[in-house]
Amino acid sequence: MKALIICFSRADENYAVGYIDKGNTEIVVEYVREMTGADMFKVEPAVPYSADYNTCIKEAKERVGNAPVKENPSDISAYDTVFIMSPIYWGTYAPEVETALEGLDFTGNGIVNIRSVKKHPKF
Ligand SMILES: Cc1cc2nc3c(=O)[nH]c(=O)nc-3n(C[C@H](O)[C@H](O)[C@H](O)COP(=O)(O)O)c2cc1C
Repeated sequence: MKALIICFSRADENYAVGYIDKGNTEIVVEYVREMTGADMFKVEPAVPYSADYNTCIKEAKERVGNAPVKENPSDISAYDTVFIMSPIYWGTYAPEVETALEGLDFTGNGIVNIRSVKKHPKF
């Protein structure tokens, strides 16, 4: 299996646990990498989220539908499996992950969503 992980995760202040060095999704990404040897594409917001949780919530809400990223993943045709790993923001992927998925051609890729209970409309 040739696999790619497209992921986003945020450290800093998180709900109920205070300040953390590593985001929840990133911890799971590490497990998946260990198990699969997958390549990784980390989605990075063009402007990082604030460390403060409540400010981050406001920022994320404003970014829904318009969330620029530093770099987009490009050709994924070499991979037979793509793991999409994102925190749930407003019931779906983090807005930057939505941006990263736009324009990707998933024809022929198996998709593994590691995310939430709500299925993304694209898959
Ligand atoms: C902006 C924002 C929106 C969120 N929206 C939801 C949500 O709609 N449903 C939910 O269950 N959790 C929601 N959460 C909680 C995150 O999904 C959860 O803390 C996740 O594990 C964070 O992943 P990370 O540590 O990898 O960034 C939200 C968190 C943030 C910061």
